[in-house]
Amino acid sequence: MGVPEPAASAEVLLAELLGVRRSELASYPGPLSEEQAALYEGWISRRVKREPVQRILGYAYFRNLRLELDEHALIPRPDTESVVDAALEAVDRRDGSCRVLDVGTGSGTISISIAQERSSCDVHATDYSEGALWIARRNAERAGAKVRFHRADLTSGLDALEGSVELLVSNPPYVRSTDIPDLAPEVRDWDPHPALDGGPDGLDFYRRIFAGAAPLLADGADVVLEVGDEQAEEVLEIGRCAGYIPLGTHPDLAGTPRAALLRWGSS
Ligand SMILES: C[S@@+](CC[C@H](N)C(=O)[O-])C[C@H]1O[C@@H](n2cnc3c(N)ncnc32)[C@H](O)[C@@H]1O
Repeated sequence: MGVPEPAASAEVLLAELLGVRRSELASYPGPLSEEQAALYEGWISRRVKREPVQRILGYAYFRNLRLELDEHALIPRPDTESVVDAALEAVDRRDGSCRVLDVGTGSGTISISIAQERSSCDVHATDYSEGALWIARRNAERAGAKVRFHRADLTSGLDALEGSVELLVSNPPYVRSTDIPDLAPEVRDWDPHPALDGGPDGLDFYRRIFAGAAPLLADGADVVLEVGDEQAEEVLEIGRCAGYIPLGTHPDLAGTPRAALLRWGSS
């Protein structure tokens, strides 16, 4: 199979090269300079080999942010924007201010968005990958967002936060290990596999997060977890068995349940 939506890729790359909106391309006045033409040709030949547009550019747009990327960080997905919406609704129920923990922050997608859009929050974020944390710190600095990053295996070693996290949010790896070879080349060959691989049934990280996060959570804490297609009910059930209260789901733009919503404790 060839490049999906090739015209869209070609237009996005050209618009980024020229520093204009895609909708302005048709009215762009001049021909490309020789340097621009050579650069563009190079970008197109990379895209033909299925390198994602965001890897070619070295950055991705997510909500209000332009996030730098490298091989250590997953490309932020538009679906995750709806997970941030669900998290912000939880923040707003707490008057726009609470302690947040984003587990597996990657390029800082969720944590930086929350810190930027609700600046009264005390936002913490973890990742196991030093490389991802390095990129996330740079992205937070550039966005002027205050996030405290921790290198951690999910929620381990964060004893200082014990009993105080009011919103736990995560987009954990959730692809079944055996499905990884069948993913589109843009994902399989370019996203870091530790950011994708959710174990034999894709649900390993949910079990580990539910078990490990409990000591960090305040009574009544909200939990917002991105889920893959058709995983929401299973994730809610895993949470219920681990002592959380399942609240429901939050849809993405296509109407697919994209976040599982739960509460910890009695209130
Ligand atoms: C699906 S990616 C999500 C990245 C980012 N939150 C986003 O939405 O774009 C999962 C992230 O979890 C991180 N991760 C994987 N295993 C981890 C672990 N044991 N502890 C902490 N982070 C982990 C990966 O490095 C990756 O950044």
